[in-house]
Amino acid sequence: MAEKLEQLYEGKAKKVYKTDDENLYIVSYKDDATAFNGKKKGTISGKGVVNNKMSNYLMRKLQEEAGIPTHFVEELSDRDTLVKRVSIVPLEVIVRNIAAGSFSKRFGVPEGTNLLCPTLEYCYKSDELDDPMCNSYHILACGWATKEELDTIADYTFRINAYLKAFFKKLNIDLVDFKIEFGRTPDGTIILADEISPDTCRFWDSETHEKLDKDRFRRDLGHVEDAYREMMKRIFGE
Ligand code: TMP
Repeated sequence: MAEKLEQLYEGKAKKVYKTDDENLYIVSYKDDATAFNGKKKGTISGKGVVNNKMSNYLMRKLQEEAGIPTHFVEELSDRDTLVKRVSIVPLEVIVRNIAAGSFSKRFGVPEGTNLLCPTLEYCYKSDELDDPMCNSYHILACGWATKEELDTIADYTFRINAYLKAFFKKLNIDLVDFKIEFGRTPDGTIILADEISPDTCRFWDSETHEKLDKDRFRRDLGHVEDAYREMMKRIFGE
């Protein structure tokens, strides 16, 4: 089994390690939670396990059933996963189906308003700059991705949204919005990387509209751990 060697990087929610295979890394999910680009800090007990298992499950499904290439290789333990080595494209790719969060604030559209079609937003990944929103022209002008890469990213992203929206609907959950990240493998192929979890998606119960995601932490709504546990239960059963 692959083993962790030198730690390459510690992010807000995960650590990344080298392995003895130069093309494979191990990501290790932590219980640390931050919001507002690290200005709010806390711990969500058990979150690392939920995010690791949920993200792996969804990436496997996306790969097998929707033809989306992902970084997932093998789940090694509750918190550790073997992934393909990528360099991350420095963009947060955000899809929205229902107005919420910064979209509602920016455009004055009340939270919960169904959008007429899914929207796509890009933010430039930079903690110092607070991840500013940007458009495709900014991305090409600054060289954060090429036109071809961006076309691939947009195509994959809408396919991921269609797949996940239908998947969660069957679990009685509305996929309000989510953020994904892509990476380049050493040969330049674009693949889905990072994670898909309650940290990076808004999940609302379709009937009660109860929030089952990290907004419970961001907005001090309480029952944060319960929300993560409930998402696990809906996906994997008891
Ligand atoms: P927003 O409404 O705050 O822009 O968030 C949109 C989606 O992106 C939401 O599902 C939460 C997710 N998200 C992240 O994963 N990381 C972030 O740093 C932010 C701001 C949002």
